[in-house]
Amino acid sequence: MNFKGRDVISVRDFSKSDLIYILKIAKEMEKEKPKLLDGKILAALFFEPSTRTRLSFESAMFRLGGKVLGFSDEKVTSVKKGETVWDTIKMAERYSDVIVIRSPVEGSARLAAEAASIPVINGGDGANQHPTQMLLDLYTIQKTKKKIEGLKIGFLGDLKYGRTVHSLAIALSFWKVEMCFIAPDALQMPEHYIKELREKGIKCHKTSDVFEVSPKLDILYVTRIQQERFPDPLEYEKYKNAYRLDITLLDHIKKELKIMHPLPRVGEINAELDDTEHAIYFEQAANGVAVRKALLALVLGKEK
Ligand code: CP
Repeated sequence: MNFKGRDVISVRDFSKSDLIYILKIAKEMEKEKPKLLDGKILAALFFEPSTRTRLSFESAMFRLGGKVLGFSDEKVTSVKKGETVWDTIKMAERYSDVIVIRSPVEGSARLAAEAASIPVINGGDGANQHPTQMLLDLYTIQKTKKKIEGLKIGFLGDLKYGRTVHSLAIALSFWKVEMCFIAPDALQMPEHYIKELREKGIKCHKTSDVFEVSPKLDILYVTRIQQERFPDPLEYEKYKNAYRLDITLLDHIKKELKIMHPLPRVGEINAELDDTEHAIYFEQAANGVAVRKALLALVLGKEK
């Protein structure tokens, strides 16, 4: 399988065999390979705040012997003086070998890929897609549950604007799984995603009551209500405390249930759950390094 030169913009860029292959390379990347990307440079262009995506891409590049340049705030770039993102990409491609871009604007990663002649990886574009998060989520599920087929997965929180949920649900639909979407009506999974999933034969269930479905779930994928995505601040105020999971959740779940979260969290999972056997969200974030090492090596043609 040859990924050399490929962009990673959307879950729709991948076939099931692509996903399985990347997960296999990610497992190999748990080993040290300190010289694999010697001489290669990653441009990390973050127009929107990030902790995990930016730092794990940087860590991945450093651990493979590569170097990183970039910015984590648009305010320190010439975009602030009126330069376009297109021109910014035209510059970054001349200074680096691969670009990762995060932006609040949907479609910006696709635009960057059109501008650049080097591989572009989407580190999250608005409420649209977060394909590298999807890969690390799949990797975490596979690693923890030893399978994906047959699992019952609940998605909880802001499913309307949640790009991680959008990417992961579509990726999971390559396998025969069951999905429950748990959210207030106003933040439910967009209907076009549900339609697409059902057309692929995925059993989908919608509810606002987590305890209605939690006893049968294998994975509960929790997300934050994202203040920055709400056009109306009053709407955010209405929903920000919609879910507050605490230790009482344990009375309503299977022993084997694992709780995932792309993080950051802002109160939807009480820290008292962190030390239970169910919480795997920090391990999930840690898996981002191996997965991003795999992607960088693949698009730079250093793994086949
Ligand atoms: N999961 C995730 O994308 O986290 P950051 O916003 O911190 O990168």
